[in-house]
Amino acid sequence: MLIRETAESDLPAILHVHRLAFGQDEEAALTEAILRDPSAQPVVSLLALVDGEPAGHILFSRAGLSSSRSSGLGSSNVEAGPSAALLAPLAVVPAAQSQGIGGALIRRGLEDLSRAGTALVFVLGYPAYYQRHGFQAAGRLGFAAPYPIAERNAEAWMVQMLGDHSPGKGDWQVTCADTLNKPEYWVE
Ligand SMILES: CC(C)(COP(=O)(O)OP(=O)(O)OC[C@H]1O[C@@H](n2cnc3c(N)ncnc32)[C@H](O)[C@@H]1OP(=O)(O)O)[C@@H](O)C(=O)NCCC(=O)NCCS
Repeated sequence: MLIRETAESDLPAILHVHRLAFGQDEEAALTEAILRDPSAQPVVSLLALVDGEPAGHILFSRAGLSSSRSSGLGSSNVEAGPSAALLAPLAVVPAAQSQGIGGALIRRGLEDLSRAGTALVFVLGYPAYYQRHGFQAAGRLGFAAPYPIAERNAEAWMVQMLGDHSPGKGDWQVTCADTLNKPEYWVE
């Protein structure tokens, strides 16, 4: 298996992977929209190839972090937080699932983001799967998702801190790229 960054010419392969993995067009269309969204940049987009054939794809887009704190004068200051990214979507074609490809894509993406100085990576996904890869529930650590997550799905909103970065205690509001900034993407 080989994992490499994607190029513009990989778009058909990327969309094919998402269509096969999810069995519908929605995630493929979302992936294309994120790749073309200026507010999502920089993205980390990685393709996994098995015997030269596209088998998996992962996408991380830019996220933001801000903290509203009282200035003591009744107004509030918005503090810019450390750099952050959002993992979505991840897909492995059915024929190649359960062979470690999804995990390898997550690890490689986190390495690349860490090298680029990203402090925090967020995901809304299957808790049991992402916990295996170092993610933990983000809400109780003070990170609010772009849209409120229903209490029954609270564990699905997760974060991983990279390297020695820590944003410190606080109530952080996470923001995301324009494409993902729609309530329907925040319902698990
Ligand atoms: C989820 C997905 C990306 C995992 O990719 P993968 O390459 O099969 O994952 P890995 O090989 O690294 O890990 C496989 C393990 O994860 C487990 N796993 C897969 N999906 C899971 C889920 N939804 N919840 C918990 N565990 C899950 C498998 O049971 C397997 O466990 P095992 O090692 O004990 O057998 C892939 O199944 C997929 O593309 N699914 C459809 C698209 C999708 O749902 N993507 C969204 C992810 S939030």
